Amino acid sequence: DRRERQVAVFGAGYIGLVTGACLADLGNRVVVRDIDTERVRILQAGDVPFHEPGLGDMIARNKERLTFTLDLDETLRDAEVAYVCVDTPPSASGDADLSKVWSVVRSLAGAAHLRAVVMKSTVPVGTGARARAALDNAGLTATAYASNPEFTAEGRAVSDFMNPDRIVIGADDPAAAALIAALHEGINAPVVTTDVRSAEMVKLASNALLATKISFANEIATLCENTGADAMEVLSAVGLDHRLGPHFLRPGIGWGGSCFPKDSEALRQLASNTGFHPMLLSAVIDVNNIQKRRVIQKLKDVLGDLAGREIALLGMAFKPGTDDMREAPSTVLASRLQAEGASVRCWDPLAQPGEVEPWVSATRYASPEKALDGADAAVVVTEWPQLRDVDWARAAATMRRPVLFDGRNLLDPAQMRGLGFTYLSVGRP
Ligand code: UDX
Repeated sequence: DRRERQVAVFGAGYIGLVTGACLADLGNRVVVRDIDTERVRILQAGDVPFHEPGLGDMIARNKERLTFTLDLDETLRDAEVAYVCVDTPPSASGDADLSKVWSVVRSLAGAAHLRAVVMKSTVPVGTGARARAALDNAGLTATAYASNPEFTAEGRAVSDFMNPDRIVIGADDPAAAALIAALHEGINAPVVTTDVRSAEMVKLASNALLATKISFANEIATLCENTGADAMEVLSAVGLDHRLGPHFLRPGIGWGGSCFPKDSEALRQLASNTGFHPMLLSAVIDVNNIQKRRVIQKLKDVLGDLAGREIALLGMAFKPGTDDMREAPSTVLASRLQAEGASVRCWDPLAQPGEVEPWVSATRYASPEKALDGADAAVVVTEWPQLRDVDWARAAATMRRPVLFDGRNLLDPAQMRGLGFTYLSVGRP
């Protein structure tokens, strides 16, 4: 039977906590370290500092094998493998800011008993080579280095981790790759072992292709609007081709979140740094930027000048099922509306007021109905399922003007028009 392996996880954010909890659930002994006192206190008290389905339960049932600490020595004492799971936000130059990564790597000095240091954070291709040099400088010459990117989506992170399409391990030593694969014993998925640079690139290329599919769907949706075709019909038929697949072809108001915007920009920057302009990737990013702004133009086409108008944004999180506001299209819509002189109202069942960008002043309402009451127009920004259950007939009566832009094609056009709405959506006639 399998030996309990000792893992140190640096960073108790989305990735670190999901990685730590899942590795513990697979039978490993895991210590998660963070430098944020409040975050560690919350975790030690048995709470989870953000919304992620299944994570709290998983942490609770692995109490014996999963601990949280501020203490570096405690984290490293028995560790065989150290996972780096810190955030790598964009820096002023557009390159990923790796300062937290380097600070973790520096903190490993003296832990020469580590068999492997594993990068889970999304980093530019080539980071592994720099990390290798830093580890050598820190005296960890016998410790292997590996890249083991994550492909988990928020809201499904626990089940994505436990049921992945593949596990990618890029290591500078085959024994380390085998050790990392062994940590995942119990997961039924192909393990792809490769070199460090290729593993780093797999993560960036995967996210870029997913973002490309969405931008493509958004561009086709605009073409459908201009030609009278129905984008939902078109894209669902396109997606039936098994070479293309049905996923990530939903048109909407653009992609957001903690990964796609940051990773696509970082990949573009990486390309520029090698003297290469990535034309397709750049267009994918441009299409996404324009997609958010088109909403404002469409509202103007109906309402005229937006100055003094009350506009309700329904859904603020970048997608349903999460409270995450990072790069949420809602923040762009809210600030663009404000720049046009409109007053912004908003509703979201999970996202917290403080997480709306501080420069956006939107009045928050406890229900969609309240946000709609007296509004000149509303935009479905996030496809929260509860928006299907709104009493839209009543909303049409309580709104100052029944204008609805359904940015996620959530509602039925004929039904909404039947209720008296001026109903706009994405790519549907
Ligand atoms: C994504 C990737 O799915 C994941 O593999 C990676 O590790 C991190 O980035 P996440 O950001 O959590 O995960 O969200 P995801 O569900 O993939 O959606 C990303 C964005 O694309 C959202 O803003 C969503 O609304 C948008 N989207 C998605 C569309 O507009 N249309 C689609 O068809 C799919």
